[in-house]
Amino acid sequence: MKLLEERIKQDGQVLSDHVLKVDSFLNHQIDPGLMQEIGREFAQRFAADGITKIVTIESSGIAPAIMAGLYLHVPVVFARKRKSLTLSEDLLTASVYSFTKKETNEISISKKYVNEHDRVLIIDDFLANGEAALGLLHIVQQSGAEVAGIGIVIEKSFQDGAAKLKQLGIRVESLAQIAALANGEVTFLNQETE
Ligand code: G4P
Ligand code: NA
Ligand code: NA
Repeated sequence: MKLLEERIKQDGQVLSDHVLKVDSFLNHQIDPGLMQEIGREFAQRFAADGITKIVTIESSGIAPAIMAGLYLHVPVVFARKRKSLTLSEDLLTASVYSFTKKETNEISISKKYVNEHDRVLIIDDFLANGEAALGLLHIVQQSGAEVAGIGIVIEKSFQDGAAKLKQLGIRVESLAQIAALANGEVTFLNQETE
């Protein structure tokens, strides 16, 4: 997605060879207009897939997910990383290990909102090692719902998350695919061959 790639080039900060900071439009301050275009793009890519629900994870997955939900006319459910006071019964859970934070989180959603009648689109902001995506996949599979695919805003293609998901036969649609973050520069996959 050209608009997103341009924004990453313009405002993204390469913190290291494997971390990209996008706090000015996605992970802290959020650009609603850009999120709208991202939602429209996800909706187009999954328009023919009979999606009935979007599942994401707090916090940064929520903005792109809600915009996709708006265009697909389906509800959006976000997995919680901490147990909520009111969300206590009938939970579907998965353990998600974060390589970045070196900690494991128990993520959960209520059975009430995803079930065997659903065709789910999973959305997240980043795809790195795929731990969060695999956790969401596990939760949705436990619900009996079908997973139509995974929509990712920024895929770091040099990490193994995308490959792991594709090996499982999961369709992955990433709006920006980063081939490398070497020397303080962002290189996109589609740019390598230019
Ligand atoms: P994984 O799920 O793909 O295995 O990734 P990892 O555990 O490494 O990611 C932990 C957190 O860091 C996730 O956000 C993920 O979205 C984010 N992340 C991973 N790589 C990058 C990167 O290069 N840049 C940025 N900005 N984020 C990255 P989170 O902790 O769940 O935070 P949030 O959703 O509340 O923002
Ligand atoms: Na994040
Ligand atoms: Na995330």
